[in-house]
Amino acid sequence: PVPYFTLNNGVKMPAVLMGCWQGDFEGEGKNLDLAISNGYRGLDTATQYKNEAIVGQVIAESGLSRDQLFVTTKLANSEHHDVAGALSRSLEKLGGQIDLYLMHWPQGVDQSTGALFSDQSSGNELPDYVRTWKEMEKAYKASNGKVRAIGVSNFSIKTFTELLKHAEVVPAVNQIEGHPYLPEAELVQWSNERKIHTSLYSPLGQSNSPLLKDDLLNSIAASHNATVAQVIFAWAIANGLSVNPRSTNPERQVQNITLITLTDEEVKRIDTLHKEDGKHTRLCNVAWSKENSTAGGWTLQQLG
Ligand code: A2P
Repeated sequence: PVPYFTLNNGVKMPAVLMGCWQGDFEGEGKNLDLAISNGYRGLDTATQYKNEAIVGQVIAESGLSRDQLFVTTKLANSEHHDVAGALSRSLEKLGGQIDLYLMHWPQGVDQSTGALFSDQSSGNELPDYVRTWKEMEKAYKASNGKVRAIGVSNFSIKTFTELLKHAEVVPAVNQIEGHPYLPEAELVQWSNERKIHTSLYSPLGQSNSPLLKDDLLNSIAASHNATVAQVIFAWAIANGLSVNPRSTNPERQVQNITLITLTDEEVKRIDTLHKEDGKHTRLCNVAWSKENSTAGGWTLQQLG
């Protein structure tokens, strides 16, 4: 079975969750139910993925009790000013329990105009994400345990520092893009020091990933009689990070929760891989270009 990480409020989160982003999990044979029968106990969805209802249906039909599954979902950018409403809509779709509720991006966006909600401190006003976090804290406390933990996604050290000045509840998790070409070691260490767990999306670098062709990762994989994907997940878990890889392919689903163990030397060697020429890179371009177009050119880097 997949190991668990213990979050800062004692809740246990699986080290590998099925990423539901861009997975065409709708309809016949699309294999989210298969993921559960293949042993997945964690599912990572979001209101923005528009598949919470399908995830909820799969949970209901899984034959497992709700306590046996860990489900992450995320407040959409357009919902920053309606946290209570957004949460109740997500709860309803996901069978009345959310194990981890994340603020999807620090930037809230007005859906009708595409404009950013007031984001940076101007005068005495708090940044949008701080006000949104205060609402998430309230909703968490009012949920009577239906929301088991709250956290954020796509936060940098800069946005986090501002958030923590005002937070009563320290976020349990920050979900970010991460893989050997983008290890985010500084952010991870900063978060660890504050008991914030880091969870990685796009840990394989999405489709046609250069990671799968990387010489070092391939040679380590060969020496373990394993695949590059398995090496990447073992590296992440050894560094205390959970991963949310997505696969609609039954064999790769099984492969991704069949964990291997690397030596300390191998983990350290992979830690420095991104320092090689041209390797340090974001691979999750879709999210960035989408975010740029809806958020008026604001990016995580600009905030952090
Ligand atoms: P597929 O669904 O056909 O398995 P990420 O989670 O980083 O966004 O990556 C998802 C992409 O990686 C999908 O295209 C998925 O395709 C593919 N993928 C998932 N698991 C593996 C694996 N073990 N080996 C190679 N590719 C994989």
